Amino acid sequence: MNRTFISDTPSMAGQTVRVNGWVNTLRKMGDKLVFIDLRDATGLVQVVAYKPDLDEATAAIVDSLKPEFVLEIEGEVKARGAKQINPDMITGTIEIGIKSITVLNTSETLPFQIDSDTRVVNEELRLKYRYLDLRSERMHRNLVLRDNVETFFRKFLHEQRFTEVETPILTKGTPEGAREFLVPSRVHPGKMYVLPQSPQQFKQLLMVGGVERYFQVARCFRDEDQRGDRQPEFTQLDMEMSFVDREDVMQLVETMMIEMVKACAPEKRIQQIPFPRLSYDEAMSKYGSDKPDLREDKDDPNLLAFGWVIDFPFFEKTEEGGWTFTHNPFSSPKPEHMEMLMEKKNIGDILTTQYDIVLNGYEAGGGSIRNHKPDALRKVFEVMGFTDEQINEQFGHMLEAFSFGAPPHGGIAPGLDRLIMILANEPNIREVIAIPKTGDARDVMMGAPSEMPKRALNDVHIQLKS
Ligand code: AMO
Repeated sequence: MNRTFISDTPSMAGQTVRVNGWVNTLRKMGDKLVFIDLRDATGLVQVVAYKPDLDEATAAIVDSLKPEFVLEIEGEVKARGAKQINPDMITGTIEIGIKSITVLNTSETLPFQIDSDTRVVNEELRLKYRYLDLRSERMHRNLVLRDNVETFFRKFLHEQRFTEVETPILTKGTPEGAREFLVPSRVHPGKMYVLPQSPQQFKQLLMVGGVERYFQVARCFRDEDQRGDRQPEFTQLDMEMSFVDREDVMQLVETMMIEMVKACAPEKRIQQIPFPRLSYDEAMSKYGSDKPDLREDKDDPNLLAFGWVIDFPFFEKTEEGGWTFTHNPFSSPKPEHMEMLMEKKNIGDILTTQYDIVLNGYEAGGGSIRNHKPDALRKVFEVMGFTDEQINEQFGHMLEAFSFGAPPHGGIAPGLDRLIMILANEPNIREVIAIPKTGDARDVMMGAPSEMPKRALNDVHIQLKS
């Protein structure tokens, strides 16, 4: 008999079905009657074992059950009487009367309870046994929400003629602000790959490659101090478009977010459409933050206050008295400030085309229009004090690529983890990542990072300081 998913059983009253899943809870009513709440990925169903109706072997199996045993059950779907209907259960109008039962696997007692909200459990313990945590209803719901949001974005972008392209994970360092993870090379002694902070350079090179509209659900890696909204590996909805200006990108992203909320989180209300726009100066003077929380009612769990912050300064002073970029070295200045960049004057007054999308006090994404002309990009690095040699060594490939007819282009990268965290009303992004790292960047389930055998270190030409 084919397996039926639990959520499909309510429409099958009167039929015999095969269901598979885990014992969520067991309730024994006297000697004769046992209720099993069986759980699969689609929900819970009440299974009834009335022992006088069962043969001896089947009744013995029912008596041996414990929570989290893995079962295969064949039984009849029966409509419940009006008084027995449970409106809180998706299968609350029916129950399944056991005909036969097989224990596919047993289970030890779990280290914590999963039939209620696991947020009360010590987090290190939850992360060590993440596969058990994921069985809980809330964690499962978060994973499904994440899948829905990612699927929505993929479909939306495909309809707008975007192509999803995978870019390398083993790559070269880029100056995007964060410390990078290094991967030593075995075949090239002393040399290392770097894990990408973002696909920034690759997506721009794809524009030179004529892709025109690129996106990727892209894993990014940054060796930064952890916070609730930061993980060493996280996911961006990375996008780039050719022949666009700032307005085009912002409009597309705004529509995409509005439609996504309608489709994936219909209980939410967006406070203001079109999304309000603030200059960096306004955001700082009014809210004291470049990621202001614009919510009128911070206690309303269903309120989403999107906004844009624009007109950031391009450069800021370094401690040594030089200049560095505030957001992204590949950004273009605002068109009216291009001349200042080309002449390298009034550096502190140059504004960038950078736009950040903020949501309920978080930076949910950032992007810009890029410098597609090699001499303009070169000027950015000159302002930052790079020598010609350093520019050619680190960015020669970009400058050369842009000399072969690079189209004007721009893009953005919403941070998926933060977006989904807010949609799920979760306090940190670990709750919406299947297998996250702890606050000090460990994977306690797998035991990473871990020491390596000497031979493995020798292979990659590494000698540890004793
Ligand atoms: P940026 O560095 O602003 O831009 O990153 C874009 C978005 O990614 C999310 N984010 C993070 N989420 C979780 N953990 C982290 N450690 C983390 N770091 C960043 C944030 C942020 O807004 N290449 C550019 C994008 C572009 O210009 O197109 C970039 O990476 O939500």
